[in-house]
Amino acid sequence: MQDTEESRRMFIKAAAMAGVGVALSPFPVWGSTPANDQIKVGLVGCGGRGSGAAAQALAADKGVVIWAMADAFRDRLDSSLGNLLKDEKNKDRVLVPSDRQFVGLDAIDQLLPLVDVVLLCSTPSFRPRQLAKAVAAGKHIFCEKPVCVDSVGYRSVQESVRGAREKGLSLVSGFCWRSAGPERAIYGEILGGRLGEVVGISATYLTGPLGTKARQSGWSDFDFQLRNWQHFAWLSGDHLVEQAVHSVDKINWAMGGRHPTKCTGIGSRYCREDVPERGDIYDNFSVIYEYENGPRCVLTTRQQANCYNNNDDWINGTKGYAWVNGWGPTHWIKDYSGKTIWSYPKDGSTPDMYQVEHDTLFKSIRDRRPVNEGEFMADSCLMAIMGRMSAYSGQQVTWDEAATSGEDLTPSSLSDPMPVQKAPKPGAMS
Ligand SMILES: NC(=O)c1ccc[n+]([C@@H]2O[C@H](COP(=O)([O-])OP(=O)(O)OC[C@H]3O[C@@H](n4cnc5c(N)ncnc54)[C@H](O)[C@@H]3O)[C@@H](O)[C@H]2O)c1
Repeated sequence: MQDTEESRRMFIKAAAMAGVGVALSPFPVWGSTPANDQIKVGLVGCGGRGSGAAAQALAADKGVVIWAMADAFRDRLDSSLGNLLKDEKNKDRVLVPSDRQFVGLDAIDQLLPLVDVVLLCSTPSFRPRQLAKAVAAGKHIFCEKPVCVDSVGYRSVQESVRGAREKGLSLVSGFCWRSAGPERAIYGEILGGRLGEVVGISATYLTGPLGTKARQSGWSDFDFQLRNWQHFAWLSGDHLVEQAVHSVDKINWAMGGRHPTKCTGIGSRYCREDVPERGDIYDNFSVIYEYENGPRCVLTTRQQANCYNNNDDWINGTKGYAWVNGWGPTHWIKDYSGKTIWSYPKDGSTPDMYQVEHDTLFKSIRDRRPVNEGEFMADSCLMAIMGRMSAYSGQQVTWDEAATSGEDLTPSSLSDPMPVQKAPKPGAMS
């Protein structure tokens, strides 16, 4: 890695960091979109999702060029760029010479002044700072989920969302199910009252453990953790926040964006091997979200091998119930006599939801009609964070407590030694 310990600390910790180190030009009302056809896109976080997002940006608009790339690690950038250049249909619009390749934790600072649009696809813990910088620099943004891993990050994201709105910037979220045709249709029906009042939801995100990377010689403890970021709560937020947040977001969607008043979460680390690359996260959670006037929504998630996998949302209303399974795919609504009262047509359109996100973003830029998905993007993450807070502590957590907490998961030092923490024991936290 090319950056110093000091710059790492500055990048992560300085709360007022937004915009510092970014060469800002006077900001026009509508971003820095050029008058000509070309839209310069910068990718921050050149991993699996970032590489996919870059390809989707290219497919979304013929004027898009991938103009600059940034990653914490040189090899990740090289491999992503190599793959983008291998694609015959795109390679003429992947224009990233060595002086527009930036490596290091704060590589975004060098990238931002060069581009019109930024794709924020790195490790979640850095997203609040990166989002703040992108907004300060006046860029249109695609922002992967989760957008924050703790309460301090949530409040920073809220500020950025407001800033993007004030500046007329487009901010499109990576909560991809919001861009899926069948989900848009069924949640539209639910919000339109087809079920009556929603009184309860049961959501599952049951899947296996994610892969790990064995430690290489020359890696610091920090490098090792960042390479295995999904497994470290301070980097990913734990798998409830990193992965099952999709299901939490669908709860938030069906509940019309209402905030739960409080939640009760349980969880544990039962099946994960006790090896450093498996970090400190749990492998299962269950969270009950309570809403004013009665509705209760339950989210259950696990990452355990050789078990039943499933990704369902059962939504109960006063007039009927809905089954949503994007993996199925299944999307229908029945009344309580069992009669199907709505279903997504078998021949209905199912465009690639990841592509739709980028089509939305670039169309909004061309049309000069900013889209801002920041509110649900931030709130769904806080819902997941409050579930984790409750499970880790063994206590009920209210929305207000989660929203105002001083919780900041970033370790006080990123220098060696950075021992792998023990997974929290419920009831043992002060
Ligand atoms: N919407 C979806 O369905 C979906 C699917 C997969 C991943 N994701 C999300 O996308 C994000 C990336 O996931 P991934 O699977 O691509 O992980 P990944 O590990 O493949 O890629 C992350 C990249 O970010 C880089 N990085 C870390 N810190 C950085 C920094 N400060 N600046 C620049 N680069 C940095 C890493 O080196 C790595 O190359 C995560 O938030 C993940 O939750 C979303």
